[in-house]
Amino acid sequence: MNPLKTVNGAILTGLLLMAALGFALGGSGFSVQNLDRWLHIISGVAWIGLLYYFNVVQIPGLAAAGTDKGGPGGAGISKYIAPRALLWFRWAAVVTALSGVLLIEFAFRPLGGGLMQVLALQEGFRVIGVGSWLGLIMLFNVWVLIWPNQKKVLGITPATDEQKAAARNVALLASRTNFVLSLPMLMCMTGQSHGLPF
Ligand code: HEM
Repeated sequence: MNPLKTVNGAILTGLLLMAALGFALGGSGFSVQNLDRWLHIISGVAWIGLLYYFNVVQIPGLAAAGTDKGGPGGAGISKYIAPRALLWFRWAAVVTALSGVLLIEFAFRPLGGGLMQVLALQEGFRVIGVGSWLGLIMLFNVWVLIWPNQKKVLGITPATDEQKAAARNVALLASRTNFVLSLPMLMCMTGQSHGLPF
C-alpha cells in the first residue's frame, strides 16, 4: 500500500526519512536538546501555519460564503474542516510551548538563564524572554479565548444565536491578535541566537 495515501503513512514516512538523514549526516551522538529544538520548530510550524490558514483563508472564505446568496454556503467547512483544523491547532500550540520551555532549560540554563531569568527578561535573555512571553500569551488566547468560543460557534457546546455571534467575535479578535503577535514573536525566537533584523 502506498503510505502517501494516508496522513499517518505520510507522517511516518517523513519521520523515517528524517531519522535516516539525521543518522547519515550526523555522527556526534544523540542530542535530546536538538531533537527538542526540531520538535519545537515542527510543532510551531503546524500551529502558526494553521493560524495563518484561519486568518487569511478560512475566516475570509466563510465571510464570502455567508454573503454569496446563491452559493453552497460554509456549512461543510464548519462541519468537516474547522473541527479538524482546530484539533491540530490547539494541540500543536501545547507541544510548541512545552518543547519551547524545555528548550529554555536546555539552551540557557548552562549560560545562567533558566525559565525564571528568561521570563524576567534578564540581561542576555531579553530577546528570547519577549518571544517566550508573546508565545505564552498566544497559547493563553488559543485555550482560553479561541477554543471555548469556537466550540459555541461550531455547536460543540450549546449556545443561542446571540451567544454564538458574541463567541464568533471574541474568537475572531483573539485569532487576529495572535496573527499580529506571531510576527514579532518569530523575530524574537530567531533573534536571540541569530540576531535581530534591525
Ligand atoms: C510558546 C512559547 C514558546 C517558547 C517558550 C519558546 C522558546 C524558544 C526557545 C528557548 C528557543 C531557543 C532560542 C535559541 O536557542 O536561541 C526558541 C527558538 C525558536 N522558536 Fe520558540 N518558543 C515558543 C513559541 C514558538 C512558536 C509559536 C514558534 C513558531 C514557529 C517558535 C519558533 C521558534 C524558532 C523558529 C526558533 C529558532 C530556533 C533556532 O534558531 O535555533 N517558537 N524558542
